[in-house]
Amino acid sequence: MNIRQATVEDLMAVQNCNLLDLPENYQMKYYLYHALSWPQLSYVAEDDQGKIVGYVLAKMDEEDNSSPHGHITSLSVMRTYRRLGLAEKMMQQSTRQMVEVFGAHYVSLHVRKTNRAAIGLYRDTLKFSVHDIEKKYYADGEDAYAMRLQLKEPVKKLRGVVEEVNQVTVA
Ligand SMILES: CC(C)(COP(=O)(O)OP(=O)(O)OC[C@H]1O[C@@H](n2cnc3c(N)ncnc32)[C@H](O)[C@@H]1OP(=O)(O)O)[C@@H](O)C(=O)NCCC(=O)NCCS
Repeated sequence: MNIRQATVEDLMAVQNCNLLDLPENYQMKYYLYHALSWPQLSYVAEDDQGKIVGYVLAKMDEEDNSSPHGHITSLSVMRTYRRLGLAEKMMQQSTRQMVEVFGAHYVSLHVRKTNRAAIGLYRDTLKFSVHDIEKKYYADGEDAYAMRLQLKEPVKKLRGVVEEVNQVTVA
């Protein structure tokens, strides 16, 4: 098994995984938008024959008035390749790039309230916490947990700590 950054050539296979694994599907232009705008953030898992068996599709959020943050748009691993740690590794690589390339302060995502596997991964393994509950977020009326993982302290706060330390040193 191999995990690597997704390329535009992978997107048909990524879309195929998504159609097999999730009810939330997207047009090809939405996959392209991710791959072209933030090529550092989306990853695929491939088997030894080069077949794509999982992906994470991620982006930076562009809302005004909020600190820079990443967002996981979609994640899935094909059924026979689950519980091998692939989703965990793809999530870790993507979030690392969010910090290193884009200075993200946190990463956000939505998950169905009944999705036990995904909640296990996000909450227990990756240490996300529930930020909000969005009622009827999904087209079929199911609620979503809006989850977040803090990635680094805001620069201002860090600067304050450094200043405090300097003052103590000088005194
Ligand atoms: C959720 C999903 C992506 C997890 O992929 P995966 O590659 O099997 O996950 P990993 O092997 O990296 O799992 C890492 C940890 O997450 C948790 N986890 C994963 N699957 C789990 C399950 N079925 N039940 C409980 N916890 C689970 C476990 O803590 C696991 O660690 P462990 O195997 O050492 O116990 C996969 O089940 C999937 O594709 N589901 C359908 C699509 C989906 O729901 N996507 C998420 C939408 S928000």
